[in-house]
Formats: sequence, structure tokens, C-alpha cells
Amino acid sequence: MQNPGLPEGPVDGGWGFGVPGKDYDSFMGRYARPLATRFADAADVSAGVTVLDVGCGTGALTGELVTRLGIRSVMACDPSEPFVQECSARHPGVDVRRGAAEEIPFDDGSFDVVLAQLVLHFVGDPERALTQFRRVLAPGGRAAVCVWDSAGGMQMLRSFWDAALAVDPTAPDESRRLRFGTAGEISDLFAAAGWRVQPETTLPVSAEYADFEDLWSGFLAGVGPAGAYCLGLSEQDRAAVRAQLFRELGSPTAGFSLDAVARCAVAVVPD
Ligand SMILES: C[S@@+](CC[C@H](N)C(=O)[O-])C[C@H]1O[C@@H](n2cnc3c(N)ncnc32)[C@H](O)[C@@H]1O
Repeated sequence: MQNPGLPEGPVDGGWGFGVPGKDYDSFMGRYARPLATRFADAADVSAGVTVLDVGCGTGALTGELVTRLGIRSVMACDPSEPFVQECSARHPGVDVRRGAAEEIPFDDGSFDVVLAQLVLHFVGDPERALTQFRRVLAPGGRAAVCVWDSAGGMQMLRSFWDAALAVDPTAPDESRRLRFGTAGEISDLFAAAGWRVQPETTLPVSAEYADFEDLWSGFLAGVGPAGAYCLGLSEQDRAAVRAQLFRELGSPTAGFSLDAVARCAVAVVPD
């Protein structure tokens, strides 16, 4: 039976997050780890607080939090069973539970800080997620959310979707389908629910690739909307997208790096 807290549909919410942890890492983990450090800094996470990592995935942010706070002060949840298992295995002793942001599987008032890194745009009911953040936070607690900047701020995804659109003008470009990637969107959500929001910031990171194949293999792993779309293409179209992406990136013949920027908002729970 489906956990009542999980979104309708496939276990991964239909977004391509039912994949093994190593596949996620080769695709997005190489950005998520450096982002976690910047995000935890932006949320002012330091010793003495108890933190929940919502949508923890394979545990990039969870690991950063454990380093800062120790295992007893960090908890995590995610609707994807493979990711819950992976995060638990990587961070033994951390309480990692299966559950979605809309029905967080932890008790009221349990945390000083709730964090969601690269998650809110996949959440079916973000208003409900904020209600849940509020429920599990102690009085005076804070929540922080970050999402890739959709105005060209995530080079890897932007290049892929530009290549896909060149081949298939109906390709479901995630920057057009998903919310919260433009300036003020995350802040507006918090403000509308009565939270006291700090000015939004941007968090720049980059990732290294050994060569073009190193990048392309990430799409073939079927991770996230881009990977799921890539796997669903005919062989012919996939080859055309690959060739177009290679050109988009300047036909690299050696290692290269790609940049990404996340938008971040920190908000204090309403009284
Ligand atoms: C791009 S990954 C980010 C994972 C991790 N936070 C990181 O930074 O590596 C998106 C995550 O959101 C999770 N997710 C999808 N829908 C969700 C929901 N409704 N509530 C909480 N997490 C969700 C996915 O399972 C996936 O782990």
C-alpha cells in the first residue's frame, strides 16, 4: 500500500528519482555536494541546532550537516525508497525516513532548521509543504530552500534542453514546467504563508567532467526530468540530441567544467 504521505503516481513522483544512488551522483551529485556547503552556510547552520533535510536524495546535504552537527542532530526524509536506503547507508546513525514534504514523517516541533535543497520544484503541493515545515519546526525556527536558477543558471540542464528543443520543439524543458527558478518565487511562497523572509541570495557552484562521455552518461542513467526524457527518446533522436549537445558545449575534446547557480531563500517560521 502506498504511504499516505507520498505523492500519487510512481514511487519517485514520476520525476526520475527511482534510480540507484551512484547514477544520481554522476548526474547531479557532483553539483549537490558543493552546493550543500554553500546552502548550509546561507542557512547559518552551525553547532547546537537540530536539522531536518527534506528530499535528502542520496544524502549530499545530509553529509554536510553531519559534518557540522554530528549524527544525532541530523534527520532526513525522501519519497524515493532507493534514495532513503542510499542516504541511510552513507550516513549510518542518521534517522532517514521515507516520506514527502507534504506529509513529513517526523513529530511536531522537532527541529530548529528545515532545509530542502533542489526539492521544492518537484513538490506537488508546495503550500502544503510549507505548512509541514511549520509544523515540524520549533517556535522561532527557520526553513531554507534552494532551487536551480532557471534563467540560464544551470548550464548542464540548460544546454541539454536547448539541444533537445533543437531536435524536438515539443521537448518538455523543465525550466518552463517547474516553479521557483526565477527571482522572488521562493520568497513569495513563504511571504504568502506569513513567514518572515530574508532577502534571496544566489549560490554559485561548478562541476568537472573528464570528457563529453562523462557528461552524456549521466543523461543515459535516466535521472531527473532530463534523464527520463532522454531514455524515452528513439535511438535516432537520442543520437541527434547527443550531437547537438556536443556542439552546444563547443565540441569539447578534453575535460571541462560547467557552472550552476541556485536561488536560495531563508525564512523564519510565523509566530
Ligand atoms: C534533485 S534531487 C535533490 C536531492 C538532494 N536534496 C540533493 O541535493 O542532492 C530531488 C529530490 O527531491 C525528492 N522529491 C521529489 N518529490 C518530493 C516531495 N514531494 N517531497 C520531498 N522530496 C521530494 C526526490 O526524491 C529527490 O531525492
